[in-house]
Amino acid sequence: MRPTGAQGETVQMTRTERILMCPPDYFTVDYVINPWMAGQEGSLDLDLAKRQWSELRATLAGYADIAVIEPQPELPDMVFTANAGAVYGKKAIASHFLPQERRPEERHFKAWFRENGFELLDLDDKIGFEGAGDCLLDRSGPWVWVGHGFRTEIEAHQEIAGYFDREVVSIRLTDERFYHIDTCFCPLTDGFLLYHPPAFDYESRIAIESRVPPHKRIVVDTRDAGRFACNAVNIDDQVFLNSASEPLKARLMLAGFKVHEVNLSEFLKAGGSAKCLTLKVTEPA
Ligand code: ARG
Repeated sequence: MRPTGAQGETVQMTRTERILMCPPDYFTVDYVINPWMAGQEGSLDLDLAKRQWSELRATLAGYADIAVIEPQPELPDMVFTANAGAVYGKKAIASHFLPQERRPEERHFKAWFRENGFELLDLDDKIGFEGAGDCLLDRSGPWVWVGHGFRTEIEAHQEIAGYFDREVVSIRLTDERFYHIDTCFCPLTDGFLLYHPPAFDYESRIAIESRVPPHKRIVVDTRDAGRFACNAVNIDDQVFLNSASEPLKARLMLAGFKVHEVNLSEFLKAGGSAKCLTLKVTEPA
């Protein structure tokens, strides 16, 4: 609910968050770099994708400022700006994609970071790193959760820890459907965590459970995880996602969150959803 002033007028909320998005003008599925894309070549409804993206943008715009990067022809996955890089204060680490198909996106994202006043780490180009898709700041503890196993290499982890001067908790992903940590893990306000435990190896689960107490862990089952419920955008007490079952919505509400569902079916065909389509560029250091 929006706050109202003494005379009952709606008070403009101070928007502290800025989110980078990329319009889906050239979005398509014509190569396969994750299991969700297999068999989806040619099945995309681009008009529907554009409407879904606009709805996500309009919904988020009620809570954050939206910055837009210009889409580029022949770069269909550029819509997934979570993979532009990882941001911490005015520092950013631009991605270096493992799949060749996405490498031409790198120079566009780097240019955006530079034009917007970010200092960029010169990451060794032998190291694969896929940005905020695999690098998530905790919302209450002083550490960063970083995935590895599919798209980000373990060698990137110490670079991140050094450059951001933050503890890195390395999380090993074991299920190729959940190839970026943001597909199965979402730190929320006040130290809550939305996550799908089967997507991690045993040691990683111990690392998670030793940092997040049981009452703050919101376990997402296979059905909800398969609909990208963990791939959520969280702004204060608001959670934006593709879809969540009634029990999951109830659990989130009980933890104090308001859930917004935005159908992103066309983006699921490329293996992405709400969080992948966004990058928070205001991450306080
Ligand atoms: N097709 C894209 C890829 O495989 C989807 C990226 C989803 N992004 C994310 N942050 N999980 O790279």
